[in-house]
Amino acid sequence: MDLKIALLAGDGIGPEVIDQAVKVCDAIGEKFNHSLEWMPALTGAIAIDQVGVPYPDETHEICLAADAVLFGAIGDPRFDNDPSAKVRPEQGLLLMRQKLGLFANVRPTFTFPSLIDKSPLKRERIEGTDLVFLRELTGGIYFGERGRKDDGNTAFDTCTYTRAEIERLARKGFEMARSRSGKLCCVDKANVLESSRLWRETVQALEKEYTDVDVSYEFVDAVAMRLVQWPNSYDVLITENLFGDILTDEASVISGSMGLMPSASLGEKTSLFEPIHGSFPQAAGKDIANPLATILSAAMMFETAFGLHEEGATIRRVVNESLAEGFVTEDLVEGGGKAYKTSEVGDYLAQKIRK
Ligand code: IPM
Ligand code: MN
Repeated sequence: MDLKIALLAGDGIGPEVIDQAVKVCDAIGEKFNHSLEWMPALTGAIAIDQVGVPYPDETHEICLAADAVLFGAIGDPRFDNDPSAKVRPEQGLLLMRQKLGLFANVRPTFTFPSLIDKSPLKRERIEGTDLVFLRELTGGIYFGERGRKDDGNTAFDTCTYTRAEIERLARKGFEMARSRSGKLCCVDKANVLESSRLWRETVQALEKEYTDVDVSYEFVDAVAMRLVQWPNSYDVLITENLFGDILTDEASVISGSMGLMPSASLGEKTSLFEPIHGSFPQAAGKDIANPLATILSAAMMFETAFGLHEEGATIRRVVNESLAEGFVTEDLVEGGGKAYKTSEVGDYLAQKIRK
């Protein structure tokens, strides 16, 4: 296949982890006879520095022309510490989600047998965990009306959802539940919020079409608790934008390191694949960041965007092998073990694929 991939490395450790994913994908291309065309484009703080905006029109054109987008990370402490900054890197990410119509953010949490004791949770609580969040990504409080009143002394952000927005996300959740264990959990705060009551009403109406799916409804505060008690009791969870933002960070560390979990954002146009972790500015340029979340995001890209399952499975296999062999970056080193560089892990995986 001819595959055109927009490459948005972004900020912080983004460029380093993206480089490793490119090495791995190129090796997959060679092994399975695909020709990969990489289309680099600017986004985030680096785009602000170079062209004044975090998601330039040119970048958007490149994303639209591509078969998929591979994304690194966005964010820079220079902006975090300045609440009055008019332009921020994160605006680029939000604009990109909106302009590409990326309404469904797929964030899995699974465990790696060789890392089970790296988890902050006890082994018996997490063994067998394999869940996936579908987070709504282009609505809710992230995109609602906001502002200041009373001479700046009162601030508000509003959470708005339409039935149509909820339904298209929920349908993806039902389909995904169907392809897995048949269990779907709708996470909301319907005991308090009107928008949550519309979520519940919409999902309940869909149950009639998906009678083979077993749906539960749980409040977001209870889910936050049960995620650390019994993460392995969940399968597919659907939720609105902000609840999903918070719960997926919580869930991402269950596997043992935030540097491990991939994600996909699906929607109306080109799909986007990115690690769940952020730009980790303290590690930028040091060649120490864990590239596996980005490499596993590339595996999701092969499967989800291109329908190339063996290619995705091959990436996952070599990642699992390298973990079992202890060929890992410093965040995963067990007492006394050797820490490998970001670039060494990328080279090692690419070479394993070529073998
Ligand atoms: C994420 C991030 C973003 C979000 C930020 C960087 C805007 O935390 O992808 O989860 O809140 O959606
Ligand atoms: Mn987040």
